[in-house]
Amino acid sequence: MNMAEIERALRQLRLSGMIQTLSTRVMQAHAAQEPFLETFAALLQDELDRRSSRLIERRYKRSGLDERLTLADLDWRFNPKLPRTACFELHTLKFITEGANALIVGKPGTGKSHVAKALAYQATLSGYDVCYLEADEQFARYALAGTSERARLLKDWVQPDLLILDDLFLARRLMEGAAEVLQAIVHQRYKLHRSVVITSNRVVQDWGKYLADATMATTILDRLMHRCTMLEFEGKSYRLKEASARIATPDPS
Ligand SMILES: Nc1ncnc2c1ncn2[C@@H]1O[C@H](COP(=O)(O)OP(=O)(O)OP(=O)(O)O)[C@@H](O)[C@H]1O
Ligand SMILES: [Mg+2]
Repeated sequence: MNMAEIERALRQLRLSGMIQTLSTRVMQAHAAQEPFLETFAALLQDELDRRSSRLIERRYKRSGLDERLTLADLDWRFNPKLPRTACFELHTLKFITEGANALIVGKPGTGKSHVAKALAYQATLSGYDVCYLEADEQFARYALAGTSERARLLKDWVQPDLLILDDLFLARRLMEGAAEVLQAIVHQRYKLHRSVVITSNRVVQDWGKYLADATMATTILDRLMHRCTMLEFEGKSYRLKEASARIATPDPS
C-alpha cells in the first residue's frame, strides 16, 4: 500500500486520530531510525488521545453547560469566608462515587453558581455524564409540557451521574407541577445513589413556602441531606464589585 491507500484504509476503519498524525510519525520514524513497534505505539496513542478528547467534548455539549469554569478562576481573597476547603474537596468528585449531594446556599453574587459549574465541568472531564439545569427555567418548561415530553425530561434529569440544579427558587415560587418534578427527581436519584448539586440564595427553612407545601419540602430535604455536604456562601456580591468598577472607570467615549 502507498500512503494514499493506507490513509483510505484508516478512514474506512474510522481511525481519524491516526490519519491526522500519520505523515508526522512516518517522518519521525525515518529521522530517528525508530523501531517499528515504537512508531506503531505512538500512532495508537494518537488515536486514543483523539478519541478521548472527542468524547470529552461530546460530554460537555450534552451537559447543558454554557461555560467552562474552574475553581482557579475564583478570587478566594474577595470573600475570605467562603468554604474553600469544602469546595476543593467536592472538586475531587469523590462525592459522585459515593452518591452524595451538595447544597450550596447563600448570598447573591458570591460564586455559588460558579462553583457548581466548575464541579460540573470537572465531572465532564473525568468521564461522568452531567446534566446542568437552570432550575426555575427548566421546571417551568416541565410544568408547561405534555405527558410524553414530561416523561422524557424526567428521564433526562434522573439518568446522568451528576445533576446540577442551579439557582433554585430564584423566581421565589415554582410553577404548578414543578414542585412535583423536584420531588420526583430527588426521590428517584436518592434511590439510585446519584448525586445532585443544588445552588440557591434561599435558606432551606423557607423551602416549604416556595414549594407551597411544607410536607413536600421536608420529604425532599430529608433525602437530599441524608448524604450531603452543606456549603454556606457568606460575603459580598462580586457582581456589584464588577459594576462599581465599571462606574469608577467610565468608558472614555
Ligand atoms: N470570588 C470571586 N472571584 C471571581 N469571580 C467571582 C467571584 N465570585 C463570583 N464571581 C463571578 O461573579 C459572577 C456571579 O457569581 P455567581 O453567579 O456564581 O453568583 P451566585 O452566588 O450564584 O449568585 P445568585 O445567588 O444571584 O445566583 C460570576 O460571573 C462569577 O464568575
Ligand atoms: Mg447563582
